[in-house]
Amino acid sequence: MLRLDNLSVTYGPGMTALSAIALDLYPGEFTVLLGASGAGKSTLLRCLNHLTRPTAGQVIVEGLGNLSKPDDLREHRKQTGMIFQQHQLLPRCTAFQNVLKGRLAYYPAWRTVLPLPQRDQCIALECLDRVGLLHKALTRVSALSGGQQQRVGIARSLAQKPRLLLADEPVASLDPASAHKVLSFLHKICREDGILVVVSLHQVDLAIAYADRIIGLAHGHVVFDGSPKTLDSAQIEQLYRHTAVPITT
Ligand SMILES: Nc1ncnc2c1ncn2[C@@H]1O[C@H](COP(=O)(O)OP(=O)(O)OP(=O)(O)O)[C@@H](O)[C@H]1O
Ligand SMILES: [Mg+2]
Repeated sequence: MLRLDNLSVTYGPGMTALSAIALDLYPGEFTVLLGASGAGKSTLLRCLNHLTRPTAGQVIVEGLGNLSKPDDLREHRKQTGMIFQQHQLLPRCTAFQNVLKGRLAYYPAWRTVLPLPQRDQCIALECLDRVGLLHKALTRVSALSGGQQQRVGIARSLAQKPRLLLADEPVASLDPASAHKVLSFLHKICREDGILVVVSLHQVDLAIAYADRIIGLAHGHVVFDGSPKTLDSAQIEQLYRHTAVPITT
């Protein structure tokens, strides 16, 4: 379990991106962040592993506490997989080589100049298999479609054996069929591995189709928190009525 305890982020004078967010996030719950551009979705995701440091409040991780000790933060980051809209793969390396990079978190920097043990190579192949791309293991990433590349990105995160998976608009640049495929893989992984998966999306229909829980943000505040079944059209309108104007503090 991961607790956000009155988390706030201020980027500068008069620029509050998140305002006293209090949430408990649970393993096995496919959690989707919705909200207009500028609502604070990416900031919230980045706070979950302190890529963006909270200005106030704290992130409390089960077993690791409030991440104030460098060792606890390092351990938490090791256990956190990240998937971005731009998947940040190495295009000239094969899918397998890219997924293997997910294992590097388990080794000191000096060790990574040598080939990783067979055990890690097996994990990388298993992860490619889970996203249906074992047959593309030896294909260069630059020769894969956008949807396939995103699935390699998921496999790389899986190779990390994460407890927490963060995905910031993972399907933004994909066609509808690939978007469904990527989200159903993420959903399946969340259920099968019992890990916490938090995804930001702009497509309300996809959020409703896949989320166990939707958290709606507007101007850095939580304005909806519940099952997709309880998200009605008035609430959707409220979420997107807000424009990305800065909040004055
Ligand atoms: N590094 C930064 N420096 C200053 N302001 C920032 C920074 N990052 C985000 N902001 C501001 O914080 C607010 C929230 O931004 P954030 O990127 O979290 O929104 P978002 O919901 O992810 O938007 P989008 O849907 O466009 O990705 C916005 O007003 C944005 O301009
Ligand atoms: Mg964003």
